Amino acid sequence: MATANSWPPCTTGWISLVTSDLATRWSARQVGRLKPLLFFLCLYPLYRWSWLVFSGQGLGANPPEYLIRSTGLWSIILLWVTLAVTPVRRLLGQPALVSWRRMLGLFSFFYAVLHVLGWAWWERGGSLTEMWLDIVQRTFVWVGVLAFVPMLFLALTSTRGWMRRLGVGWQRLHYSVYPVAVLSVLHFWLVRSGKVDYREPLAYGGALAGLLGVRLLWRLRGR
Ligand code: HEM
Repeated sequence: MATANSWPPCTTGWISLVTSDLATRWSARQVGRLKPLLFFLCLYPLYRWSWLVFSGQGLGANPPEYLIRSTGLWSIILLWVTLAVTPVRRLLGQPALVSWRRMLGLFSFFYAVLHVLGWAWWERGGSLTEMWLDIVQRTFVWVGVLAFVPMLFLALTSTRGWMRRLGVGWQRLHYSVYPVAVLSVLHFWLVRSGKVDYREPLAYGGALAGLLGVRLLWRLRGR
């Protein structure tokens, strides 16, 4: 009985604590102050690779393959985190979090650039002819290129200057992040189809379906 009597105030206390916390809107300045921390967090893969090398653990039997795969994976992870910013800021009622989106998107692009450079240099020996032959011969490479090219335009036009210059067209152009994400999963799927191991591409595809599904739901409800 004593518990039954003490529950309501305790529960109310917790609810009010959580909701009052969430009701506090972080200002753009507060969110901006955390940007350097976010920047260093996004560099985590670089620390990890360096640590593996300098601690003597190494990058496996085939370091170039390890790095090509790891950079591809980190690019996709950061693309998903970028796509999660909008649902998270809406669910938490924190619109200022939008200012993290550009940095996260640019880091996804940064790892995609390392990924493509790794492929171009280690797998194709820096030869344009070899690269072209690989693009036309292997479907997953072609799909990777289809994902990478719009990413390049998204990164180039991510500045305030381009936002102003393109006006409403900027938003339309930046909607191409959705086909980029779908093509990235398809690329991942095709890479893994050689080993008939679809677990990771399925997990990433499922997460993407969730991220796009919540947007569709909000649109249908007119929110
Ligand atoms: C010019 C564009 C691209 C090329 C040439 C390319 C090439 C490659 C190559 C050669 C592999 C390794 C395949 C293997 O080891 O069997 C790979 C894997 C991968 N790539 Fe790409 N890629 C491109 C774009 C992208 C983009 C834009 C993303 C993500 C946003 C991405 C994500 C991945 C992932 C997640 C993997 C699999 C990693 C794993 O198996 O753990 N790639 N790609």
